[in-house]
Amino acid sequence: MRIVDVIAKKRDGHALSREEIDLFVSGAGSGTVPDYQSSALLMAIVLRGMTHQETAWLTDAMVRSGERIDLSDIPGVKVGKHSTGGVGDKVSIVLAPLAAACGVVMPKMSGRGLGHTGGTLDKLESIPGFRVDLSVEEFKSVLRDVGTSIIGQTASLAPADKKLYALRDVTATIESIPLISASIMSKKLAEGSDVVVLDVKCGDGAFMKDGSDARALATSMVAIGTHAGVRTEAFITDMETPLGRAIGNSLEVIECLETLKGRGPQDLTDVAMRFASRMVVLAGIESDAGKARARVAAALESGRAIETLGRMIARQGGDRRIIDDYSRLPLVPDREHCVAPRAGFVTGMKAEAVGRASNMLGAGRTKVGDPVDHAVGIVALAKPGDAVEHGQPLLEIHHRDRRGLDAARALCGEAVTIGDEAPQPRANVLGEVR
Ligand code: URA
Repeated sequence: MRIVDVIAKKRDGHALSREEIDLFVSGAGSGTVPDYQSSALLMAIVLRGMTHQETAWLTDAMVRSGERIDLSDIPGVKVGKHSTGGVGDKVSIVLAPLAAACGVVMPKMSGRGLGHTGGTLDKLESIPGFRVDLSVEEFKSVLRDVGTSIIGQTASLAPADKKLYALRDVTATIESIPLISASIMSKKLAEGSDVVVLDVKCGDGAFMKDGSDARALATSMVAIGTHAGVRTEAFITDMETPLGRAIGNSLEVIECLETLKGRGPQDLTDVAMRFASRMVVLAGIESDAGKARARVAAALESGRAIETLGRMIARQGGDRRIIDDYSRLPLVPDREHCVAPRAGFVTGMKAEAVGRASNMLGAGRTKVGDPVDHAVGIVALAKPGDAVEHGQPLLEIHHRDRRGLDAARALCGEAVTIGDEAPQPRANVLGEVR
């Protein structure tokens, strides 16, 4: 069997066999299938799709490309979480300490920025000294002591996904239900969680732009998890506009700290609380949603959640003094504003354009292995529904020596629309798949 024939078969719209999928995944992971052939097959999958059976085989092959972590010696129900990715999506950094402060054990293997979306690892690496490359034993030790630990995919965990994820990022092959499903679920199944809660983003800044695609993606991932014997649920959440106000690595970390101090933006706080409450129920800590929500609110208000984040940061080598001193994070002094071209109401703020603008400034990558600039990014000073005056600053661009500034300004200008009437408020959580 030759990989070129597998590419041609998918290009022509046929379903691949288990052996063909195994050949691709093992070859991509080990390097015997070169990147140009992997990229060609990925593009064929994007264009031609995969059946549920092919997607399940793809997931299984990616899990088998590495090891599965055994968390059975850590007491408690281990609840994993993963997002399909969005702009300003910093939920995990708020949720992990919040859930842990409620008694949930939350192991979290996160990814880097993908396309126009940011990545939890890139954000956490803004924290001086913070290590995302813990060994499995170190990860388990932090998890046992703190209740949560956020790390990168270890070399041995779904290595084929790690390779394909990086290739997809730079070959315009992200937007595919089977590829996203297999990528996320292979990591979650290998991570060793007992329960998985998924955040499927829907809207302009998500890979799934419309509700029916988002639901199809959620259903695909819930089916894969359930068939593999892991209780899996999904929330579909809004990603039409950036989540919260900050976009860019350090800026988002600051917004997470503010949220854990009870001063965060409403949308981010709502989504994090909704997830944390469900995780408290799924972990068997509370039996109903009302009690779970009260427990989560208490963890936030008492300061236990932010204290938990501080412990996680310290245990992972980071400087926990950032919690009270944001100047210890990488920041840039240079700011420019994108202003309202007229008076009225902000009727829209397209998340993808804002995400791309942030990447232009250096917050994301354009090719595999590019370094990211943790300091740059964008802060939304107004959000949809806000009344604004002519010339009022809408988006604050934090740039380094004008790098990417012109392109970012143009994208920011395109992103925002102003109208005469306030738009209907959008729900943060659009649906659930259980
Ligand atoms: N997150 C992942 O881990 N993989 C994807 O394909 C998309 C988002």
